[in-house]
Amino acid sequence: KEHPKAIIVIFGATGDLAKRKLFPSIYRLVQNNKIAKDFAVVGVARRSWTNEEFRSNVKESIQASMKTHPELDEFASHFHYHPFDVTNPSSYLELNGMLTDLDGIYHTSGNRIFYLAMAPEFFGTIALNLKKEGLTATDGWSRLVIEKPFGHDLPSARKLNHEIREAFTEDQIYRIDHYLGKEMVQNIEVIRFANAIFEPLWNNRYISNIQITSSEVLGVEDRGRYYENSGALRDMVQNHMLQMVALLAMEPPIKLTTDEIRSEKVKVLRALRPLAEDEVAENFIRGQYDLGTVSEKTLPSYRDENNVDELSMTETYVAGKLLIDNFRWAGVPIYIRTGKRMSVKSTKIVVQFKDIPMNLYYNRKETMHPNLLVIHIQPDEGVTLQLNAQKLGDGTYGKPIPLNHCNNSIDGINTPEAYEKLIYDCMRGDATNFTHWDEVALSWSYVDPISKAWEHEKAELAKYPSGSMGPKEADQLLEKDGAQWWPISDHFE
Ligand code: BG6
Repeated sequence: KEHPKAIIVIFGATGDLAKRKLFPSIYRLVQNNKIAKDFAVVGVARRSWTNEEFRSNVKESIQASMKTHPELDEFASHFHYHPFDVTNPSSYLELNGMLTDLDGIYHTSGNRIFYLAMAPEFFGTIALNLKKEGLTATDGWSRLVIEKPFGHDLPSARKLNHEIREAFTEDQIYRIDHYLGKEMVQNIEVIRFANAIFEPLWNNRYISNIQITSSEVLGVEDRGRYYENSGALRDMVQNHMLQMVALLAMEPPIKLTTDEIRSEKVKVLRALRPLAEDEVAENFIRGQYDLGTVSEKTLPSYRDENNVDELSMTETYVAGKLLIDNFRWAGVPIYIRTGKRMSVKSTKIVVQFKDIPMNLYYNRKETMHPNLLVIHIQPDEGVTLQLNAQKLGDGTYGKPIPLNHCNNSIDGINTPEAYEKLIYDCMRGDATNFTHWDEVALSWSYVDPISKAWEHEKAELAKYPSGSMGPKEADQLLEKDGAQWWPISDHFE
């Protein structure tokens, strides 16, 4: 089989993302025989590291994330370091010379991936300089991988897009949303379109609501500076949550090509009912974690975290109700919630079907449950379908029974990383699991009025204790509609 070949240039190679995610993912690609010997990684960053320092950092990262690590020295020998000043043209010229030499050594055919894993304020400068100084003019292909945040709102995202589009065409740009690399997020499409039993029911005649929960146990950790300017809405909703909404709600594409899938996702985002600023408070709840006790340890409130304003109004939690104005979804609420310092780390999608037309078992009403399809994204991966059945033995209509296909997460070690798939896709030129500019723009135009309303203090900031599932206001959001959040920890496991 033909392995993709390329030099991957990582901007921000001394940073956290490179160490936690990128190096281990590239290592796994080699171990899993997805890429062969024809690759090199060039780390660039401001620090004046040597190749040796860089390589030992790479090795440490792999030792920390994997139990066994064969051929680590050989792997690390493909890594090279170049101290770099992103604003200085001569840095680019030197880098170009280095890439040309490495191309000869590793037989990478002039294929280059420029991976921007660093502060977004430099994305435009870097893209322009790469083009200007000739780094993209090789016999092979050049691709630009961009980490989030892609802008702060629609105008800033547009400006950034404009800058990078001066140097790269849309099909050379790979905007990362790492949720799209998750196995079970990719599986949403397969579950929907490879099974005859769901598609006829997948609409407002049979579905009562959809709930997407992405909860985290960790707090803001050492990212206070970034997070203060972001908050959960920009950090999670604008990208990961809306991408999951699009995959759940899109029409079947006519083919599984990047363009066909994207164009269906774009239609969903276009059909999201926009909120005026004064409608935000009744549809979106913002929360912030407060003091709380987790495993008998008292954890600080968000406002007491490092680099966080003591009167910060930044939300660490969002719950919202979205409506999609099209034939399929008219009237079906999609509830989303995401937050930090919640009781479990979990991402799950619950599709709640409508009640049966008439309950023959009215005297057992309390034991009847709606049918639920649960897609477990993480840490467990799988699908559960909840049905009602007669309890065997005593003739009562007992517990709902789950039809379960669930892989319990092992220990997080050795499971394939979203990044592994995404880097491989980029090397192969498959942009399906990356976000197109149209999706980015539409997502920002959906969330911008919400963040504006919050900036203008048009909604309360609801506090929730660390270690809880969020503020009570988020429960009330569903209760108003006669719905409830399905528990995500005990119920389906
Ligand atoms: C990132 C956010 O995009 O996603 C983080 O910036 C968040 O704040 C993370 O913790 C969650 O990703 P995962 O894969 O752990 O669910």
